[in-house]
Amino acid sequence: MASIAHTLTRASRKASFTFTPLRRNLTTATRTRPTASIATPIRQTGRRGYASGGSTSGGSSKIVIPLGLGLIGAAGYYAYSNDLLPPAFSGAQASGLKTGGAFTPTKDDFQRVYNDVAELLENNDYDDGSYGPVVVRLGWHASGTYDKETKTGGSNGATMRFAPESEHGANAGLKTARDLLEGVKQKHSWITYSDLWTLAAVAAIQEMGGPKIPWRPGRKDGDVSACTPDGRLPDGSKDQKHLRTIFNRMGFNDQEIVALSGAHALGRCHTDRSGFVGPWTFSPTMLTNDYYKLLLEEKWAWKKWNGPKQFEDVSTKSLMMLPTDMALIKDKEFRKHVERYAKDNDLFFKDFADVFGRLLELGVPFDKEEKFIFKATTD
Ligand code: HEM
Repeated sequence: MASIAHTLTRASRKASFTFTPLRRNLTTATRTRPTASIATPIRQTGRRGYASGGSTSGGSSKIVIPLGLGLIGAAGYYAYSNDLLPPAFSGAQASGLKTGGAFTPTKDDFQRVYNDVAELLENNDYDDGSYGPVVVRLGWHASGTYDKETKTGGSNGATMRFAPESEHGANAGLKTARDLLEGVKQKHSWITYSDLWTLAAVAAIQEMGGPKIPWRPGRKDGDVSACTPDGRLPDGSKDQKHLRTIFNRMGFNDQEIVALSGAHALGRCHTDRSGFVGPWTFSPTMLTNDYYKLLLEEKWAWKKWNGPKQFEDVSTKSLMMLPTDMALIKDKEFRKHVERYAKDNDLFFKDFADVFGRLLELGVPFDKEEKFIFKATTD
């Protein structure tokens, strides 16, 4: 069997599956943040808000300000979780909180949002040690509802804040990511949810060792009336025909479908969300082309269990593939691209950055061309 780019042997891989690989790409000399600084989002927001606020100093204000931020945050969170936030089209300029007047955020402001998101991702108590994968999935599900014919759906609007969209089966589990980002939203109240969720997905990809994803702001938050109907996101139990129907509707071709699917190098399935179980790769918090390599190089068989039909790798039985993942090697046209990406990680990164960046822009009437490339915390 051709070798997979892992340093672990198959046996040791199996035995040592509980690693926290995010650390692997974050342990460079430039990364000095101690693990102990990871706190609950709200508390961390208060602390960081104080630290970067810069306008106050002295004893008592140290107590008052975090408390004040905490109260604002708590009120905002209450409004958020009860769908009470002001609806239609709250853009960055709608909140003049930072200056008391119109506030036009700069690239540095967005980089600060990026940094705060990056700081929340690593958490040893969650899944494989990172919220990165579920944050990527939030950005993708917020965007992948786009319909190029009716020009509805897409990342503009962040309508997954509202039922019924938040309750669509495909979005099960994404509350975790939305709640995680709520502290960042309260701290940088000028940013729209729709810009925040997509920026956070970019941060997650970059922080998990993926390519730089050029990103631009300009999304506005919509209201509940802009929720998309159920059924616009792909169903993992289906085949290649379904994949083409869903992704062609967004405007993506075969090569782009395969490139986007490489995100399944990340994260895992959860029985209490999709019903499926397990990760696709041995390093679910590192973006690599391993998904394609494993698809081609491992033997896959139906998993014998009492759950939805899925595949497992024959040799370790610790990895999974959905029927839609297997469709990428069953279908001749899709398979060509799987083979290209399995051979060439740089090509995968280049194509992934391009198509993921465009996915996050679906349905957004931008008025600016300029895109930002954010510094990763490891840069
Ligand atoms: C090709 C069609 C796709 C299907 C059928 C599909 C289906 C699924 C399913 C069933 C899960 C498991 C959810 C759970 O139980 O927590 C999942 C997770 C995930 N998907 Fe996809 N997906 C597709 C495409 C994509 C794309 C295009 C991206 C991003 C570019 C993506 C990113 C992810 C990530 C990062 C996770 C892991 C989430 C976590 O660990 O919580 N998927 N997907």
